[in-house]
Amino acid sequence: METIEQNRTEGFERVFGAQPSLRVSAAGRINLIGEHVDYCGGKVFPASLNLNCTVYARPNGTDVINVYADDLDENAPLTIGKIADYKHIKWGKYQAGVAYVLQQKGVPLIGCDLYYSCTVPFGSGLSSSAAIEVATAVTLCELTDTPYDLKELAVLSQKAENEYCGVNCGIMDQFASAMGKKDKAILLDCKTLDYEYIPFELGGCELIVANCNKPHALVESKYNERRAEVEEALKKLQTVCKNVTCLAEITPEMFENAKHVLSGKIRDRAEHVVYECARVQEAAKALKAGDIERLASLINASHDSLSKLYEVTGREPDALAYLAREQEGCLGSRMIGAGFGGCTISIVKKECAEAFKAKVGAAYEKQIGYAASFYDTSIEDGVTVRRL
Ligand code: GLA
Repeated sequence: METIEQNRTEGFERVFGAQPSLRVSAAGRINLIGEHVDYCGGKVFPASLNLNCTVYARPNGTDVINVYADDLDENAPLTIGKIADYKHIKWGKYQAGVAYVLQQKGVPLIGCDLYYSCTVPFGSGLSSSAAIEVATAVTLCELTDTPYDLKELAVLSQKAENEYCGVNCGIMDQFASAMGKKDKAILLDCKTLDYEYIPFELGGCELIVANCNKPHALVESKYNERRAEVEEALKKLQTVCKNVTCLAEITPEMFENAKHVLSGKIRDRAEHVVYECARVQEAAKALKAGDIERLASLINASHDSLSKLYEVTGREPDALAYLAREQEGCLGSRMIGAGFGGCTISIVKKECAEAFKAKVGAAYEKQIGYAASFYDTSIEDGVTVRRL
């Protein structure tokens, strides 16, 4: 650990010619269940990971925010007076978006040097972009001694991603990154932002995170397409479910009585959301009661619904989840995040974990033609701040 820290601070000194005065990190996340329901006002069940985005920072006395990525070896200089103008840059866009929304909120911005080390793999569905946004928001507030509320910074980070970066995501990722707690899952109501921490205890099992490594998954356009489809479904359902304001308010019973107003894919999409919301409630009960088999069977049902009704999996995530379920000691497996590629989580008996990784890895590579990755994960605090 210490050598990682030393390499990064030496990297900072090499790039910026000085020592950092602050270190902030914000986490990537998994989601136990509640997929593609955050933007429908549903409950989600994420937890923040040891994989994170760490920023080393110092004020630099100029009017420029430098954002340097150690893996890309690239710096983007963002001039504070022109912070609205960086929407189309590749690296630095998320940071510019966060700086922009903070500035609009009246948070003072100062010139600074920011050095990013991110261990959340990009494009993995573990929400590297939310980790960058939340780490940036906390860093910019800390550097000007501006008091902040992490929940509010999560909302501002989502706003940056929606309005500045053009990605129409829900609140789950930023909230989990900002509000995560060691060894806890967060049961978050995305409509009210009320939340509850539930101990992440899987009894004799462990959670295994695997990446299907699908290259160039077309996530954004498909994601926005699903959002439009569920909005259409809601409008139609509101003609019979009069007082409903979001799909998550529709119970399975209400849906069964009202679904005749929907057809085809639109009906499938709504069915996923309605039943997924019901599964989240059940899963929270199961985790609280230590009923891991029940939790895992709900996780399986979630994946099947994401695959058949919501159609956000594809060949690779399906292969990874279904091969996982065939292994000894695996109670359940599903894709997480936006889908179309990215990661799965599997609940596996501790004594079977090593064999599980080896067998799933081999079977996946045989079937798909390239390897999956397995990560050593633990549930850690979402944000950590340290003055150096
Ligand atoms: C992405 C989005 C989240 C959420 C998930 C799907 O991670 O950023 O807001 O919609 O997909 O559950």
